[in-house]
Amino acid sequence: MRLEGKVAVVTGAGNGIGRCAGLRFAREGATVFLADVDGAAVEATQRAVSDAGGAAHAVACDVSDPDQVAALFERVDGEVGRLDVLYNNAGTAGPPGGVTDVDVATWNRVIDINVNGAFHCIRGAIPLMSAGGGSIINQASVAALVGGGPPAVGPVAAYTTAKSALLGLTRSVAYQFGERGVRCNALLPGTIDTAMTQPLMDSEAYVDGVVKATPLQRFGRPEEVASTALFLASDEASFITGESIVLDGGFVIAQGPVYTRMAL
Ligand SMILES: NC(=O)c1ccc[n+]([C@@H]2O[C@H](COP(=O)([O-])OP(=O)(O)OC[C@H]3O[C@@H](n4cnc5c(N)ncnc54)[C@H](O)[C@@H]3O)[C@@H](O)[C@H]2O)c1
Repeated sequence: MRLEGKVAVVTGAGNGIGRCAGLRFAREGATVFLADVDGAAVEATQRAVSDAGGAAHAVACDVSDPDQVAALFERVDGEVGRLDVLYNNAGTAGPPGGVTDVDVATWNRVIDINVNGAFHCIRGAIPLMSAGGGSIINQASVAALVGGGPPAVGPVAAYTTAKSALLGLTRSVAYQFGERGVRCNALLPGTIDTAMTQPLMDSEAYVDGVVKATPLQRFGRPEEVASTALFLASDEASFITGESIVLDGGFVIAQGPVYTRMAL
């Protein structure tokens, strides 16, 4: 087992990629604190972990609220007294829109959950990791590498900005805490088939365009993101820090965002 005896926090663990990662980390031997703003969803994930023989705690927590995040890490401290892995997965895309279209409340909310949420969690996690080091994984997106989405999406300025900021946060944390044995890396998934992307899947222009412009000719699965997060969480990635891993079936290197603007 690749996380035997380790303690992990996974945020946004009620659905999609976070749920998958919570289940996978537990199967690999970790005690997992599953956090999500949706308390019922995260309790369902906890039951699924328990049914599979794993160890998990469900914590209702809005990562954009520093007090709720402090309570999450106090609970980790109280129950086990240390932390090995933090997967900052909680996020929201918000509605598509460019800089001049997005309303200020949406802009602030997207930055607050994606960027400030990771910031609060890292500040809670670091003191618990300082004894034996640890691994922090920030969930960015290929949105951090391009100016906007393909047809049927267009610009998503708040999300693009938020996910780009996570790359800077990743490098900053890797730089500062490397000497304590804390690694910090970012994951940049392309389109993964989850609830977040369901509205896009109804658009033929989006589905056809993206699949044709992706060398692997399909969308990703949450399990594939969870596997990569597991690799970064585990000692197999012991000399990797400050890095970004893209998991998009080749969409960006094939110039997918440019290509899908053309009629295919
Ligand atoms: N699905 C994709 O195509 C894709 C691609 C790139 C990156 N991502 C990123 O992966 C992460 C997970 O996305 P997903 O596709 O699994 O989405 P999802 O909607 O299936 O799950 C997201 C989970 O995060 C939780 N959440 C939302 N706001 C929260 C908050 N303030 N505090 C705590 N939890 C909160 C939700 O309740 C939900 O359970 C996000 O950061 C997303 O931006 C997703």
